[in-house]
Amino acid sequence: MKKLLLITFSILTYCQNSFAQQNFDNIIEGKIDSLLAMMTLEEKVGQMNQYNGFWNVTGPVPEEGDAANKYEHLKKGWVGSMLNIKGVEEVRKVQKIVVEESRLGIPLIIGFDAIHGYKTISPIPLAESASWDMEAIKESSAMSAAESAASGINWTFAPMVDISRDARWGRVMEGAGEDPFLASKIAYARVKGFQGDDLKATNTIAACAKHFAGYGFSEAGRDYNTVDVGTSTLYNTIFPPFMAAMKADVKTFMNSFNELNGVPATGNAYLQRDILKKEWNYQGFMVSDWGSMVEMVNHGYSKDGKAAAESAANAGSDMDMESYLYVKHLKNLVDEGKVSEDKIDDAVRRILRVKYELGLFDDPYKYCDEEREKAVIGSDKNMNIALDMAKKSIVLLKNENNLLPLKKEGLKIAVIGPLADDKNSPLGGWRLAADDNTAVSVMEGLRQYEGNTLSHQKGVEFVKGQQAFVFELDINTTDRSGILEAVEVAKNNDVVVMVLGEHGYQTGEGRSRASLDLPGLQQELLEAVHAANKNIVLVLMNGRPLTINWADENVPAIVEAWQLGTKSGDAIAQVLYGDYNPSGKLPMTFPRSVGQIPLYYNYKSTGRPTNPGSNLVFWTHYNDEVNDPLYEFGYGLSYTDFKYENVQISSETMRKNDDLKVTFDLSNTGKYEGKEVVQLYIQDLFASTTRPVKELKDFQLVSLKPGETKKVSFAIDSKTLEFYSANNKWESEAGDFKVFIGVSSNTKLEASFILEE
Ligand code: NOJ
Repeated sequence: MKKLLLITFSILTYCQNSFAQQNFDNIIEGKIDSLLAMMTLEEKVGQMNQYNGFWNVTGPVPEEGDAANKYEHLKKGWVGSMLNIKGVEEVRKVQKIVVEESRLGIPLIIGFDAIHGYKTISPIPLAESASWDMEAIKESSAMSAAESAASGINWTFAPMVDISRDARWGRVMEGAGEDPFLASKIAYARVKGFQGDDLKATNTIAACAKHFAGYGFSEAGRDYNTVDVGTSTLYNTIFPPFMAAMKADVKTFMNSFNELNGVPATGNAYLQRDILKKEWNYQGFMVSDWGSMVEMVNHGYSKDGKAAAESAANAGSDMDMESYLYVKHLKNLVDEGKVSEDKIDDAVRRILRVKYELGLFDDPYKYCDEEREKAVIGSDKNMNIALDMAKKSIVLLKNENNLLPLKKEGLKIAVIGPLADDKNSPLGGWRLAADDNTAVSVMEGLRQYEGNTLSHQKGVEFVKGQQAFVFELDINTTDRSGILEAVEVAKNNDVVVMVLGEHGYQTGEGRSRASLDLPGLQQELLEAVHAANKNIVLVLMNGRPLTINWADENVPAIVEAWQLGTKSGDAIAQVLYGDYNPSGKLPMTFPRSVGQIPLYYNYKSTGRPTNPGSNLVFWTHYNDEVNDPLYEFGYGLSYTDFKYENVQISSETMRKNDDLKVTFDLSNTGKYEGKEVVQLYIQDLFASTTRPVKELKDFQLVSLKPGETKKVSFAIDSKTLEFYSANNKWESEAGDFKVFIGVSSNTKLEASFILEE
């Protein structure tokens, strides 16, 4: 009876909620109708115009967009949004101009790249993805949202959900790696984190799924480069995280700099109108990327700015970020009949809808509260969230003879490397609101453990003169003066912690690399120190997979510490000393050499997958390199050991409307309490289009005490087996399947079943 009451109550609440939602939506649409009816064409176009703030740029600023003009345009109601304005005082200033001085007083939506934190910086998104922990990722995004919202901002240009298989591309640091399933879960978690349950609250902001689409597939990993991919890759690999973001109700999308199959994304009607707005029925709005509209001229797609504005508006780009083309040409284009006013109305409706949903019409200054700004930004709570996320993001790549964790007493430790006392690099590439040098360095983290002695040497200077927007390629390749001193220190200590990798500004937008080796003289330093003392723990700080074959062969312990944000050194020290047992798993394959790229676990078999025997040459391989990666997707160690046993499948056949269960026993056979990310992959053996050799389909985080065993179970249904087929639809196809369970994408523990119609 109780249960029945509960169900009835839940249904009633659900009906009330969905009724309330419907009601709310109707009210908003009604308000938009009235507002649209009052707006002149110029004012409508103004809503579609976004300007940069006046203090920083990520691309060339158009001449007409200088500060004086922007103020005038704000007053005329020709600006719907601004980006890169931060702080309550500044935001209030611009908001006041439009609200009090423009005819209709439509509030601005204020965008900002709060990508991995605002002032309190979380790990870079690729690092967070290594946690496979959706709750932690959601909380980290919620923390970014709360700090941004406290600073006057109400829209973040995140999450970047571009899949990439190319570590040369600098922006892999901003994504969730190579796998569409994991990246979709993360996209969902991040959007939910930023937007929360209530967009009208003062600690949530609108999110933006970017970059639609294909940006992560730029040829040769060179940023902004050409993209050419077929339908199967587009749907099965690139689209899923965007679809997941939509499922999480993401309020905005951003298009991308690249062309896709010959048409720049910004002017691409197939992507924006046919797929996003029609096929997926998306109701939010699409912002262009920075200047991507005017760049269609460089692409050789639009003859001039006016033609670019025409293509973009017709293709469904709703807001122009810093090309200055809509405000300049759109009215004329409508007057000339080249863009219909209906399309303008549709774009403006979408933009106004998000402003209503944020509550900006109720109170345009709702994000402008100095007290909240002081209380929220950099709070202890936020610092703890950043620390928790940082620990969870660390991946243990190697730990020969259990060199780690380190003893807490009586050790003499040499700490060597250009990043060991760096308080800036760990903040990563997207930290526009953070103060420089505010991360806890590894040295600072280690110093908190007072039972050991520490000696520090940089060894080599790493890079000089790297800044957020200017990349001076000034990597030291000649000054070896510090190497000898480092070697001396290494000789006189029990253990050497070497902190090597990439400068914080060596990954990110515009930071593609042709080599994935340790930059500068770091490899030389590593080898020299190793010759003096082999007891090395290599702590890597980097924003992308690196080719570290020598280290893998020679160094006993390797810890992947990415760029972990404000609390970096604390997290690393806790892991090195065993106060936190690492459980991260790689979200992206580490290649052995750049020549293997693109390298990813969910590759296709090809017609010649294996060596036909003896010395035969005609199969898919290299003459000078193996096909396997150095560390595969899903790989990562723990201080304890896990054993997988008794893999069982509930049935060897499954009907399409049925499901089946895969169960197994997971035991902690080591000495430490630990957490394992158990992974489930499938292989669809034959299909209407070829399918990958393995595809991640589920995972769970399982915590176990030493000696403990848990039964773990995964459900598989027909939905799990769906893909975008040769029939141009999402469907599962009857046939033979394999299921793999285990520690990484390289697992060999398998079972099989048949899917019947
Ligand atoms: C260009 C980047 O591609 C995009 O991701 C970012 O949000 C904008 N600049 C704004 O800074």
